[in-house]
Amino acid sequence: MSRIVYVNGRYLPEHEASVSIFDRGFLFADAIYEVSAVINGKLIDVGAHLARLERSCREIKLELTWSGDELIAIHEELIERNGLVDGGIYLQVTRGAADRNFTFPAQRKPTLVMFTQARSIARKVSRGYTLKSVPDLRWARRDIKSTALLAQVLAKQAAAEAGCDEALMHEDGVVTEGGSSTIWIVKGRSIISRPLSAKVLAGITRQAVLTYVEETGFTFEERAFTLQEALDADEVIITAATAMVMPATEIDGHPIGDGQPGPVALRLRDIYFDLAERGGALG
Ligand code: PDD
Repeated sequence: MSRIVYVNGRYLPEHEASVSIFDRGFLFADAIYEVSAVINGKLIDVGAHLARLERSCREIKLELTWSGDELIAIHEELIERNGLVDGGIYLQVTRGAADRNFTFPAQRKPTLVMFTQARSIARKVSRGYTLKSVPDLRWARRDIKSTALLAQVLAKQAAAEAGCDEALMHEDGVVTEGGSSTIWIVKGRSIISRPLSAKVLAGITRQAVLTYVEETGFTFEERAFTLQEALDADEVIITAATAMVMPATEIDGHPIGDGQPGPVALRLRDIYFDLAERGGALG
């Protein structure tokens, strides 16, 4: 079945949708994206995703010409038209089409593309993610959710070729992020995740989990941690709009803790799903 996608004001069957070969998203990755989860037909934490979209656009001086309400309406329309139950919505805004020239075009006419991706999402997990560690090859502004994702493409491909579910990126032995996720560790009575900075994307799922993390009885500690600490952790946890909250049970073939999905990860996932029934922790 063909999806209905959104391109610059129009809803079209996916095979009829196109953008120009001169689009700066295609030529320069001069573009910003977001991925919002949909669980049981409900958009999760969409307000926070759109706030991050606005911030990313501001940081690269890309003027968004759609209001938050208009963008939410397009999300809802795509869910409706595609009968989406579980999965996500991908949104990309680019600086538009113009003859190839590095500097911004005089005429500002951004391109907006959105589409749904159906995916089965189960509250219960039968097994945890396996991770492969790779050096983080990305640029210096990882807080901007740019479509320049070649480093992550290579990281996640290396993970897939090693039979792993996700890459764990590190810089000089200090963990930055997953290939497309935030990484946390549990040690003793602490749940640890690194502080926000230009070195990492400010995960919306991270922000959501932080609203209830201490319901587990563990203390949140915001600090960087090393790959060795992750290997020695009681639990490793992944968060992203595409994974929700997932236990990770192996890094480079080395089991984490007892090698089974950990209780903290499972509890955080359970609460995430409870909150999803009302549109997420952040709304
Ligand atoms: N990626 N860090 C990186 C590098 C990411 O690409 C992502 C998400 C996250 C988690 O952010 P959030 O919790 O807001 O999804 C952290 C999306 C899902 C993707 O690229 O498909």
